[in-house]
Amino acid sequence: MSASIAWGVLSTANIGRKLVNPAIRASCNGRLHAVASRDAARASTFAADGGFAVHYGSYEELLADERVQAVYIPLPNSLHHPWTIAAAETGKDILCEKPLALTAAECREMDAAARANGVLLMEAFMYRFHPRTERMIALVREGAVGAPRAIRSAFTFKLTRPGDVRFVAALGGGALMDVGCYCVNASRTLAGAEPVEVQAWATWGGDGVDTALSGALRFADGLVAHFDCALTMERCEAVQVAGTDATLAADASFVARPDGVDLVLARGRETERLPFAGVDQYQLMVEHFADQALARRAGKPAAVRYPASEGAANMAVIEALLRSARAGGQPQPVVP
Ligand SMILES: NC(=O)c1ccc[n+]([C@@H]2O[C@H](COP(=O)([O-])OP(=O)(O)OC[C@H]3O[C@@H](n4cnc5c(N)ncnc54)[C@H](OP(=O)(O)O)[C@@H]3O)[C@@H](O)[C@H]2O)c1
Repeated sequence: MSASIAWGVLSTANIGRKLVNPAIRASCNGRLHAVASRDAARASTFAADGGFAVHYGSYEELLADERVQAVYIPLPNSLHHPWTIAAAETGKDILCEKPLALTAAECREMDAAARANGVLLMEAFMYRFHPRTERMIALVREGAVGAPRAIRSAFTFKLTRPGDVRFVAALGGGALMDVGCYCVNASRTLAGAEPVEVQAWATWGGDGVDTALSGALRFADGLVAHFDCALTMERCEAVQVAGTDATLAADASFVARPDGVDLVLARGRETERLPFAGVDQYQLMVEHFADQALARRAGKPAAVRYPASEGAANMAVIEALLRSARAGGQPQPVVP
């Protein structure tokens, strides 16, 4: 039998149940060993339904299980920081949900804890593992659009569950944290640089979270990336890079359709459609992570494709956007 990583999952979160846990189960190099919940009965039912070998009624107990080699952390955003550090201290490799934490400083502390304990830490931005995303980045780098002058992106949807964690400020809710983080990540990645200044305008919900936010990132070379994110608008996912010679566009940009997606390169009235077969981008992500975890455990060189420092850079931009939105749209510098 080929080597496989024993995963532990912290919580009975929806994203795990629907997409990431099934991806681990289907992966070629990982297996669902343990799940933990704050509620032992919920953990038991979840384990039986989801195919986990063991279950625990607390996150601490799962981390104490020495058979768990890697943990997947789909907790509310405010809990990513403490539980990543706790997992690092027990020697587990860590795949943590996006956004990696609430601030760049928290991300750096998580990175330091992972390094101090010699474990891997990666933010679970699954869209980066889709072959279309990789091709889009490569085409922009190769000059397919000429010099990029604008990046336009959106991630909006309508959240109807009243008590959802995304509406709770104390848990790190809000549209920017939940879906705007994808737009910021795609903008920085496609720009191949960090923005120097940002502006944002938000609509605020009852608990003080941004339920919708529009933002702009200004890069040193004059490139501007602007985006919309919302928990209160019809679903839209889009990324476009507009350059001096062409525009490159991806719809369903983050949660790609399972039956396949396109890139569209447009020059004036001419359009070229590049098709990509359907893939499970969650499975590609967990397989990459497990490959690196296996390599590390075998004493071989191991590095995740997107290190925690990249998550810290994303959070520095998100923090500046939130400062600007709270100041009614005043420009704010990005403090790395
Ligand atoms: N990559 C993606 O495609 C994607 C998609 C959706 C969400 N996410 C990310 O995944 C994370 C979880 O999102 P989700 O929508 O799956 O959340 P969710 O369904 O609300 O699950 C969060 C889980 O955290 C546990 N928890 C611990 N303390 C909690 C508290 N004080 N309040 C509420 N829950 C608490 C609960 O599990 P127990 O009670 O069992 O302990 C709960 O089931 C977030 O960071 C989000 O940004 C990523």
